[in-house]
Amino acid sequence: MGTKDELLKIFLINEQQWISGSQLAERLKISRESIWKGVAALRRQGHQIESQRALGYRYLGTDHLDAAVIKMQTRDEFNGEIHTASSIDSTQNWAKQYLSSHQPSQPVAFLADQQTAGYGRRGRQFYSPQKTGLYFSLVLPHNPMSALPKIGLLTTGVAVAVGRVLKQTFPDRDFSYKWVNDIYMNGHKVCGILTEATLELESASSAALIVGIGINLSTVDFPAAVAQKAGSIAPEQTIDRNQLAARLLAAIMNVYSEYDSGKFLPEYRAHSLVLNRPVVLKIGNDEAAGKAVDIDDQGGLVLELADGTKKSFISGEVTK
Ligand code: BTN
Repeated sequence: MGTKDELLKIFLINEQQWISGSQLAERLKISRESIWKGVAALRRQGHQIESQRALGYRYLGTDHLDAAVIKMQTRDEFNGEIHTASSIDSTQNWAKQYLSSHQPSQPVAFLADQQTAGYGRRGRQFYSPQKTGLYFSLVLPHNPMSALPKIGLLTTGVAVAVGRVLKQTFPDRDFSYKWVNDIYMNGHKVCGILTEATLELESASSAALIVGIGINLSTVDFPAAVAQKAGSIAPEQTIDRNQLAARLLAAIMNVYSEYDSGKFLPEYRAHSLVLNRPVVLKIGNDEAAGKAVDIDDQGGLVLELADGTKKSFISGEVTK
């Protein structure tokens, strides 16, 4: 770890508290001048650090995503690489590009303060303006020799992991899952999840899942048409997005480690927006209408059709 990272680590542990330059110099066993240089370097990266002659330094945080900050805040619960960018076309594309030249054996996270071409299912645009949301993609390496990943179950598990963190961060809000990949709050979508797989079936040498997550934290800058449909969790609150990202990465890894078991399904069912309701499901150009009666153990939606038979769907979109 370089001086800058070591300093950042101490600042993060003592956020909002004054630490004198001599204390820092002593702890890092470097000169006060080197401390000053480290502070200047951190400030250039957007970290807000107050300084006062008599008191020393006080770390006040940063308003941009920072890989080192996120990594430290995951407290070893995310043992992969983290990459951040201030602006990118889509973190999903960034992850795919990375995979074209790397074969990671550990998870890799890609986060951006802004996406200029964020997308959701069916290639729909996912509006991702500067700093009003959290946009990231997580590459989960998959052993190509093992059974094919159960993508429906994984998406459900990731939704539960994200839902848990949102509830922990915003305890007075209520979140529900709209099968299969959306999280709603007060009748508005606040989070979308997109799972894509790259499976090199021919070479069987690499395989990975890319889970993309977009959370609307605030919709202040949204065009009226988008703002009407999309919701936001905390329009007036400043949210520490690095901390939120760290919590999400840790929670997702936690669920991923045993997602095959479907242990999280009862939680998903309990907060489902569609269960026990009549729904219309769009599958490609087809439609199925019925009552949503269950989420099965593969994360599939079970509909009771007009003739009384039950049918499970592993993908599709609930339109009504
Ligand atoms: C959906 O609503 O259909 C899924 C939306 C997924 C959006 C996220 S934002 C981060 C990642 N990058 C993208 O381009 N899309 C996903």
